[in-house]
This record gives sequence, C-alpha cells and structure tokens, in this order.
Amino acid sequence: MKILVIGGGGREHALAWKIRQSPRVTRIYVAPGNAGTARDAENVPIAAEDIPSLVKFAKQEKIDLTVVGPEAALALGIVDAFQNSGLRIFGPTQIASQLESSKVFCKSLLRQADVPTADFQVFREADDAMRFIKGRFPGERDRCPVVVKADGLAAGKGVIVCKRRDDALEAIDRIARRKEFGKAGSQMVIEERLEGQEASVLAITDGRTIVPLPPAQDHKPAFDGDAGPNTGGMGAYCPTPIVDDTMMAWIEEHVLVPTVHAMKRNRKPFRGVLYAGLMLTNTGPKVLEFNVRFGDPECQPLLMRLKSDLVDILEAVVDQRLDQIEAPVWDPRPAICVVMASQGYPGDYQKGRPITGIDAADEMPDVKVFHAGTKLIDQEVVTDGGRVLGVTALGTSISDAKLQAYTAVQKVRWAGSWCRKDISDKAVQFLETQNV
Ligand code: AMP
Ligand code: GLY
Repeated sequence: MKILVIGGGGREHALAWKIRQSPRVTRIYVAPGNAGTARDAENVPIAAEDIPSLVKFAKQEKIDLTVVGPEAALALGIVDAFQNSGLRIFGPTQIASQLESSKVFCKSLLRQADVPTADFQVFREADDAMRFIKGRFPGERDRCPVVVKADGLAAGKGVIVCKRRDDALEAIDRIARRKEFGKAGSQMVIEERLEGQEASVLAITDGRTIVPLPPAQDHKPAFDGDAGPNTGGMGAYCPTPIVDDTMMAWIEEHVLVPTVHAMKRNRKPFRGVLYAGLMLTNTGPKVLEFNVRFGDPECQPLLMRLKSDLVDILEAVVDQRLDQIEAPVWDPRPAICVVMASQGYPGDYQKGRPITGIDAADEMPDVKVFHAGTKLIDQEVVTDGGRVLGVTALGTSISDAKLQAYTAVQKVRWAGSWCRKDISDKAVQFLETQNV
C-alpha cells in the first residue's frame, strides 16, 4: 500500500512513523513534512491546504489511503475533495468538521445531544455581548468568570479566559470590533468559566462504532506550573490516571456516544478522530471543545503505546467496518512527550538554528524524537518553527517515563532551546492525593 500523510508537525511525524511499522505499507509520503518525516518517509513539497495539488498527487501516485493531520485542511473540505475524486481518505467531511471549525455549531450540537458542557450564549454584535456581560455581573468588576470564544478557527488564540469584567469587554472588543480574528470572529460564544483538571479523550469512529483511545493530558500553558500564555501544547502523557475506567465509561456513554449519534441523525456522519477536550469539574466531566483530528502532542504518546497496526484501524474507519476489527492493543507502559521549543515561542522566534544530539536521544531504548518545526538544510537539521521537537519515551511508570524523556531531552541542543520541566507532574500529584 501507498499512504499519504497530510501535515508537517509532530503529530504527522508520529503518524508516518507508526504507519511505517505496518507490513502492508510499501511507501509513505508526507506533505509537506519536516526533517523527521524526510527520514522516516518521503516528503512531498505540497502545502497541507493546497487541496487541488494534493488530489492531483494522490491520483498520479495511486495513493491507497490518505490520512489528514491538521484541522485547517479538514475545514477546507479536503476529505470531500478526495472522495469526489474516488480517493480513500481518513478524516471527517467539511460539514462534520464544523464540530471543531465552528464553536457555535459545536455548542448547539452539544445542547441538542444533551452532552454536558458550559452554559453559553451566542452573539454577533459587540453591543449585545457587552450588554449581556454588564447585565450578568452588575457592579462586579472584579469577578467575571466567563470565557469569550471567536466562532471559527484561530489557531487556539480565539479563546479568551476572563477573570474580571474588563477582560471580557476587551475580549469582545478584540473579536467583534477590532476583528482580530477576521471572519472567525463574525460570531462569538460567551460561556461560563469552568474549574478543574483538563483531559483529552480521543476516540476513533466510523460514524457508528466508537473506539475510545486511552485518556491523555496535554499541557497548554507555556511555562511550568501552567503559567504564561497558551500554546499548541508543551507536552502530553498517556494514560492519565485522572480519568479512571469508571470515568472513561461515563465519558463514552454521556459524551462520545450521544455526539456521534447526533451527528448521524443530523445527516452529518462523523468519521475520523473525535477528540473531546474535557474539564473534570466537581459536577463531572464537561466538554470544553471538540477537535476533529488527532491532538498534537497527544498523538505522540498515544501512538508510542499502540501495538496494533494503525493502518488496519484507519482502513476500517474508511470502509465503515470498525465493528469488525479487534480492539486496539496498548502497551501497558505509560508514555510521555516533552515538547522542545524555540526561544520566544509562543511569541516571535527565530528559525534556522542547527540542532545537535537528536540521534543520541533517538538511540536510547524506548525513546523516539518526533520532529515538529524542523527542516533539512544541506543534510543538517535546523529549527523551522516554534514547537520544534517532541521527545517521547515509554517507562515502567509515569515517573520512569518522565525520567527517560528528560534524559533524552538533555542530549538535544540548539541555541535558545527550552521546554517545560513538569510534564506529567499532575499525574504524580494526583496519585499522591489518592493514596492519602
Ligand atoms: P478551546 O479551544 O475551546 O478548548 O479552549 C482552549 C483552552 O481554553 C482550553 O484548553 C481551556 O484551558 C480553556 N477553556 C476553554 N473553555 C473554557 C471554559 N468554559 N472554562 C475554563 N476554561 C476554558
Ligand atoms: N493539543 C491540543 C490540540 O491538538 O488541539
């Protein structure tokens, strides 16, 4: 089989690395890929959003299966375009991708399907939204527990978590008056701010059968102790003990099943990865958002632990026979992924810094360095993005996996590289509180 992976981040490197382990696969292309996928697969210089060129390439090369990493391509309708050309592709259609690409669509579906989520209201006009905030919290300048969200995709920046009333008014101004997020801000959702731990529960579905993957935890804020601005994710580990088997069963019954069924009933069948971003509140898990693809970096520790052939699973989704394959087998050992980033990220940063030590880290047992923002210049690996590498390790326990991953991190260097030092500590803290 020939497989094409769309995207160029750590998630796509992990997908290509895992797909390569399938004995049925003869060639793997990644478009556009990075320095890591150049080694584990073959890069194709086509952007992930250049759908006509991707369709043309897939036809020319007789690609048997295409796997889409990033949400932007899905929201643009890459799956529809491939299917219309008779090509097999893993991922949701454009209309089903609205679960991620429109927060208004997502919240309406959650309400319709009676899935627990934060209370919310939708607004188009800044004046209405501001009046709502002032009416809801009269005379309370210092307490305004809301989150203001631009409706569309905004690379994670369109979600503004507020503390004070002025924060909310400012957020509304940025979205609806200053149009900082362009068309993505033509509508906005204002919702109640929830408290608790966050967890990522991903599931693979063919629109009918749902196969939940082990729960993971991302670390979105830039700095240790969850300080600083939000990023795409500075590290992840899997499985997370904060979601135990009982809670997982509850999430399947009250979140995944009703969502997939509501999509089917609405004639927008969802096929692909359904990723529920959850807040584990005092009154139970609530959905913060859905993503319609593998998480990055959650994908990296997840795939490190997957023992089954990923291609079998992806094909079963495309052929709508997920009920007929064996349940995926997971390595019982936990995995953690530590993201190494460029100086300045998530703000401005420089590119083109030579990286050393990747091979030394990769040679450690049960360690894999997934590339994200890297490229090859004259056979040398240099930085090419904010999140540069995802150093991923398996261990006998979460603490052991953490030690392995950070030992590997120590071997890798470039000018200005940094990472969070506390990836997976929440799990250890949680386990300590359970034991007392
Ligand atoms: P989203 O893209 O909707 O997941 O939001 C990004 C991040 O904003 C989440 O990972 C949370 O940390 C935070 N967030 C979103 N919605 C809420 C909420 N209702 N309450 C508290 N935090 C939230
Ligand atoms: N790690 C969060 C995301 O992929 O959206």
